Amino acid sequence: MVPMFSASRIIKSSLFLLLAGGIISFNSCKKDDESATESVPLTPYSIDIPHGFPEPYLNADNPMTVEGIDMGHHFYYDPILSENGMRCTSCHFPNRSFSGLPYTTPAGDDIDIPPHVNLAWNPDYDWDGGIHMLDSLPLGDFAPQFFNTNMMALRQRLTASDYYSEMFKKVYHVTNFYSLTDDQLKMDIVKTIAQYLRSMVSANSKYDRYKLDHSVFTPSELNGYLIFMTEKGDCFHCHGDPLFTINQNKNNGLECNPTGINQGAYLITGIETDKGKFSVPTLRNIEFTAPYMHDGRFQTLEEVVEFYNSGVCQSSPNIDPIMTKPAKIYGLQLFDWEKADLVAFLKTLSDTTFMNNPNFANPF
Ligand code: HEC
Ligand code: HEC
Repeated sequence: MVPMFSASRIIKSSLFLLLAGGIISFNSCKKDDESATESVPLTPYSIDIPHGFPEPYLNADNPMTVEGIDMGHHFYYDPILSENGMRCTSCHFPNRSFSGLPYTTPAGDDIDIPPHVNLAWNPDYDWDGGIHMLDSLPLGDFAPQFFNTNMMALRQRLTASDYYSEMFKKVYHVTNFYSLTDDQLKMDIVKTIAQYLRSMVSANSKYDRYKLDHSVFTPSELNGYLIFMTEKGDCFHCHGDPLFTINQNKNNGLECNPTGINQGAYLITGIETDKGKFSVPTLRNIEFTAPYMHDGRFQTLEEVVEFYNSGVCQSSPNIDPIMTKPAKIYGLQLFDWEKADLVAFLKTLSDTTFMNNPNFANPF
């Protein structure tokens, strides 16, 4: 059965309507009362690129500024955008690396809620890799089943807020929320959220410190690292260093006959060779983001490792050739202690300084 109502579908269709209407432009700076305010220069923000990381994907039409990030940070934690008390952190929990428990769509499908970590290095978003622009992704949250936002009521709340009134003046030279169309107002809001999301960088795990010779691995972590990074486990092909994702769609063999949401990218592209493929998720902070996989089918890292060890369906359509190497016909055949070592290594990717960083904490 093809699900008509997955979260990503809803997000995409509402985005499509906006784009189809031709109303959105990233350069939309037709702000009526621009002349009424003195423009104070904004403070440019550049991402501190961690050692060994590639260049991030930025949007020239939405340059990051300290002020923009601050506003996005507030919106992220603020129920002000919703009529129902929801905010980003209702689903993306700070103590789970901003991931969450599976969201059940009206059609009854579970979609695991992915973390927010190093999103500036993602070229596409959502499990099926179907969204290519971080700057417009949060638009989907204005939909009835998420924030149910009434734009007139939102203008009232923003007008009543000293903080947002002040910040809109600074960032967009807007003094009157009623001078913006609904779509301009939505875009102005989500662009600041995208700036904030791009500022959420994590690169201070034990693994990162180990690479810089600032930390030592236990024998178990070291052995797990070797399994991960060599042919023994082959994990690095898809979850490569330093992002722990190669940012491509792959089928890792979860299902022999993918149906419904298990068809992954195929539901977006309709291309047969995309069936069963999902955007490879990062493994950074994986210790905190249970349950695992697009539908949250595995509760623990031990279950995930056992899946790779003995549960891969080699006849899955479009399965990645890495999963079907001749040596893997009976699975990875890891000993129990090797599986434990792999889990120990995965936990070295935990960065608690990221989750406890005051820059990402509730600002209220
Ligand atoms: C009702 C729960 C819910 C709320 C509220 C919510 N999200 Fe999400 N979010 C999800 C789900 C579910 C997904 C995965 C969708 C998919 O892959 O199909 C997701 C995915 C994402 C992604 C993609 C991450 C990735 O690695 O691909 C980003 C970014 C994101 N959300 C940002 C936000 C922001 C910003 C807000 C607040 C404006 C927000 N979300 C509010 C449930 C929620
Ligand atoms: C062929 C590419 C590929 C290889 C090789 C691979 N993975 Fe994955 N991995 C994926 C994909 C794709 C997903 C997401 C699948 C889904 O949700 O349907 C995933 C998901 C995961 C998850 C869950 C992530 C989350 O946020 O829920 C973990 C943990 C994981 N892999 C660990 C490993 C380990 C350990 C190995 C080596 C034993 C490995 N992977 C090898 C592609 C791969």
